Amino acid sequence: MSTAGEGDEVAFRRLTRRITERAGVPLDAYKDRCLRRRIAVRMRACGVHTFDAYRQVLDREAGEVDRLLDALTINVTRFYRNPETWARLAAEYLPPLLAARKGALHAWSAGCASGEEPFTLAMLLVDLAPRGADLARCVIDASDLDRGSLERARAASYPPQAFLEAPPALVERHTRAEGGQRVVIERVRRLVRFHRHDLIEDPAPAPPYDLVLCRNVVIYFDRATQERLFLRFAESLVPGGLLVLGKVETLLGTARDRLELLDPRERIYRRAA
Ligand SMILES: C[S@@+](CC[C@H](N)C(=O)[O-])C[C@H]1O[C@@H](n2cnc3c(N)ncnc32)[C@H](O)[C@@H]1O
Repeated sequence: MSTAGEGDEVAFRRLTRRITERAGVPLDAYKDRCLRRRIAVRMRACGVHTFDAYRQVLDREAGEVDRLLDALTINVTRFYRNPETWARLAAEYLPPLLAARKGALHAWSAGCASGEEPFTLAMLLVDLAPRGADLARCVIDASDLDRGSLERARAASYPPQAFLEAPPALVERHTRAEGGQRVVIERVRRLVRFHRHDLIEDPAPAPPYDLVLCRNVVIYFDRATQERLFLRFAESLVPGGLLVLGKVETLLGTARDRLELLDPRERIYRRAA
């Protein structure tokens, strides 16, 4: 005879299998605790108390799978998030990269949410490029799993709160006011290409890269998935290329043999030349 706990576990597995079928997103790379917390949030919102009942809601209500994915892929972000990291990149690390590539810098913002991170990078590159420099061959691949976030990113129009951490002069230079929002100007926008991309399943969009930003994304993945991803990042960088993680994230696994820790505070790593 099975205990209530085991029955719960079986129902939970049935539910995650159904979510995978409906959403087309494998859930086994997400930390179990994280997954359970998000599912519990949606169950509360739907007023159901068992995993089986929530599975029925998923079958019945067309929009629920998207709402669950929204809850799962927490897409909080801001322009110039963690200002010290951007200030350091702008002062120390981006100028030599730009100079070495003669403006043709190739970057990847992996888990870009609604675009604030890749647009911040694009703004800094426009500012750092020598006057009259041609940035036409400078490309930032910006990728995310979440369709809604990518739609917002492509619209490039943001409420004032999105800029609270950014230097006002930077915002003033690179956005224009439009109907209570601020819209990123074309010179910045054209550096960024958005892609729908699953970090767990898909290969890097267009390697090799001089710079990979993957900030505040891997914290939701289990250790084995993090190690695999870090290795993929290391392999997609040119020798001397940089990887920037979020402030609470640390490189794990065999990628540590390929990447040296350049800036412990800002979590900036460099692929050996
Ligand atoms: C907290 S946001 C980070 C945004 C930005 N990098 C920053 O630091 O402000 C995390 C992003 O990771 C994305 N994400 C989660 N799982 C993903 C996956 N398997 N593949 C691609 N992106 C994923 C989410 O959709 C979300 O937009």
